[in-house]
Parts: sequence; C-alpha cells; structure tokens
Amino acid sequence: MLPGGVDFFPTLSGLPTTRPQPACALGRTLVRHQIVALTMTPKMPSLSQFAQGLTTETAFDVLAVARKLMAAGKDVIALQIGDSPFPTTAHAIRAAHAAIDAGLTRYCPSLGLPEFRETIARTVQAEFGIPATIDHVAVGPGAKIFETYFCEAFLEPGDAVLVFQPAFPTFEPNIRRRGAQPLYVPLKQENQFRPDIAAIEAFVRSEPKARAIFLNFPHNPTGGVATHDDLRRIADIVRGTNIAIFSDEPYCHMVWTPEGRHHSILAEPGMLDQCVGAFTFSKSYSMSGWRCGYMVASPSVVQVVGKMINTSLSCVPPMVQMAGKAALEHDAAERDATMALFRQKVELLVNELRKVPDVTVLMPAGTFYVFPRVEPICRRLGITSHGLAMYLLEGADEQRGVACLGGECFGAAGQGFIRFSCAEPDERLVQAVDFFRDAITRTERVKAYLAAHPKYRLC
Ligand SMILES: Cc1ncc(COP(=O)(O)O)c(C=O)c1O
Repeated sequence: MLPGGVDFFPTLSGLPTTRPQPACALGRTLVRHQIVALTMTPKMPSLSQFAQGLTTETAFDVLAVARKLMAAGKDVIALQIGDSPFPTTAHAIRAAHAAIDAGLTRYCPSLGLPEFRETIARTVQAEFGIPATIDHVAVGPGAKIFETYFCEAFLEPGDAVLVFQPAFPTFEPNIRRRGAQPLYVPLKQENQFRPDIAAIEAFVRSEPKARAIFLNFPHNPTGGVATHDDLRRIADIVRGTNIAIFSDEPYCHMVWTPEGRHHSILAEPGMLDQCVGAFTFSKSYSMSGWRCGYMVASPSVVQVVGKMINTSLSCVPPMVQMAGKAALEHDAAERDATMALFRQKVELLVNELRKVPDVTVLMPAGTFYVFPRVEPICRRLGITSHGLAMYLLEGADEQRGVACLGGECFGAAGQGFIRFSCAEPDERLVQAVDFFRDAITRTERVKAYLAAHPKYRLC
C-alpha cells in the first residue's frame, strides 16, 4: 500500500492494439494475379525476425556434440549440463505409477491440481517463510516456462530489464520475445558473485524504462548466493515501485553457506505482490525429465498465468503432478541426502581445480556448478574460454574428452571462465581435472584445434 491508501502492484502488460483483419475482408482486396503469386510461389513462408534471431541454451548443443562423440566410442566425462546423475526420488516414482493406475491420465485444471497447489503453498511457507496460499500457486512443466510467462505478463516493447550477468541463457530470448531490452550488470568473482545492490538502486531510481529485474540465487553458472541482507535491501528498493521481479530459484535446496538455508525474496514484506518466484523439481528431486515446476506470485498474476497455460500447454500431466506432490510430502529426507552428495562433489571439484596452475576458483555458496577463472590460460593459449571448453571435449585427445561450457555461453561477463557441473561420479571428477591440467600443456594440439576452428581464436 502506498501513502494515500492506494494499492500499487506492478501493472500487467496491455492488450494488443491492432485488431486482426477478418479473412474475407483480406480476400476481397486481392486481385487475381496476386492470388496466383501467393499460391504458386516456390519459396517457403519467411520466418519472423524473432524466430530467426532466437538464441538457445548452449548446454544442450554441447550435450548433442558430447553424445555424438560418445556414440562414436569416445570416453566423455560429461560436466556440461546442469542435470542430476541421481535417480528420481522414490515416492515420486511410486505416486506416478499409482496415478496412472487410478486413471489420472486426462486433462486437468490449467493452474494445476488443487491438492498439489495446496501442498506447494504449505511447503514454501514451511521451508522458506513465503506466506503463500493455493491462490498464489501455478503449476508448470519446470521452471523455465515461467520466464516466458513473466515477460508476457509484465513487459511491453522498449521496457528495460535488469539482468545480472553471467546469466541463464534463456532469460534474454524471453525478454526479447516481448521487444524489451535486457540491461546487464556484472556479477563479480571478487564480490563472491553476489548482486550489486547499488546497480539495482541506480536502475530503479534513474532508468526511465525500468520495468523488471531478474534474480537467480543460488546462481547458475557462478554458484553465487545473495545473502538475506542483500535480499532485504533489494526488497526495500523496489517496494512500492512499478518494478516486477522474476526470482528464479531452481537451486533452493543447494545452499552451502554456513547457515545452509535458502532465503527467498518472496518472503520479504510485500514482495509476494511484486515478485514471481519460479521453482522446479528438476534439481532437488532429480526430476528434470518429468517437467514439473511451479510459480509463486500474487493471485492476480496467477490468474493471468493460468490463461497463458490454458492457451499454450493446457495443463501439466496430472500423473506428473501427483509425483511432485508425493516428492514434497515424503521425499525431503532422500532429497537432503542427495544434496549432501552434491555438496561433497562440489568441494572435491574445487579442491582438485585449486591444484591447477593459473586457475582461480571460489567454493560456490550454492548450486552444483563450479565456475573457475581460467583467463590466464586462455590468454597464454590464444583461445576463448568456450574454445577451451570445446577443445577439452573434441581436440585434446582421441580417446577421452571433458564436456563443459565456456563462461561466454552465459554472456560477455562470463568470458575467461569455465562452468563445470558435478553430474558425474567422484572418481570421474578427479579424472576430469587431471585431464584438464594435462590438456592445457599440449600447445601443439591447441594450435591444431584453433587452425581447424578459427572462431575460437582469442583476438
Ligand atoms: C537458472 C535456471 N533457471 C531455470 C532452469 C530450468 O529448469 P527446469 O528444468 O525446471 O525448466 C535451470 C536449469 O538448469 C536453471 O539453471
């Protein structure tokens, strides 16, 4: 509530202003030769500017290259994709079988099964202190779709959106889909990849087109975590403005700070009305292939997103929702045991990487990613950091490769870094770092790789 008693929530995007032409009206204006030209033209219909410029998550492209090399017999240590190597938690699997047996195989409400939404609301209240009810929850196929829905709900062409970079690669295409503009602010290793609060303040107070902020803590790819105090300060800056926050929280159970607890900005006073929180079962319950996630936001935003789900997906499969519900109700202990294994893997990888000359690496405060700075190595070898990553996969050895991502897959601020995920058994993580240490000494092979792939030359 603003002074004067006026409720101020971020406004939703407007309705389309151009009215579609009825087909018959269009048909009447065409002369005969135009109709012939339209029907006879040998070219395919042209794609939209948006479709032609669409950028994607590079991790999936590298995954495809890695799979091809594996199929050809190469031993690839796959540290490129943010996926869990562990099985889906037990109750989730059982509940999905039971749901199919019980005939839960048809459409269900677009916002999700009411009993699942209730369970989600209770869980985020108990785990993160978010004061949610069923009316604050919408179910989707993972967390990613809510980036799209958030942008459709709040952004108009020309709006400015603050995004911290390195950034999850699908933020930008979703912002651009609405004709809005991402404004990037770097996350710095020397600041433990925590958000720059002064930059948020400057954006909110001085950027005339300021409309939204994307947050993602624990952060992919850097492993940075915003402290509780950081989140309080961000909430204080945006409270009562027309700024909406997308808070992407897929790694909410992977926090390795001494406190070991996830803080969500949605728990701060008033923020449930100004934020959209996105959560997923992909990481915490090893359910990436099930496609199950949810959004927490104000009831009016939830209703709008319900229409978006209705007009795009209809609903998330009900047996998948029953699996998610069982995971929340019964699999917390299994989840936490798995999270502890991830933490050990992250620590192992960091300790191994610290033995490699010219690598500077922080112990991530969260996530299962390790994001070492390898800039001196890149400079010495004259190769970009993604070039270095691709060299480790394709060029360093005939028999073995390590798949990982160059930091620039997450935007220019990621240059000079590499992202490793920890999705392999411990001994393979050690092998991967041994391989890396050795590969960067083989300068002749690097030269040959660059000659075949000049796009990776560092200018
Ligand atoms: C920051 C971030 N957002 C969203 C997602 C997508 O998660 P989901 O599988 O739930 O769509 C990921 C997955 O890696 C992620 O790292």
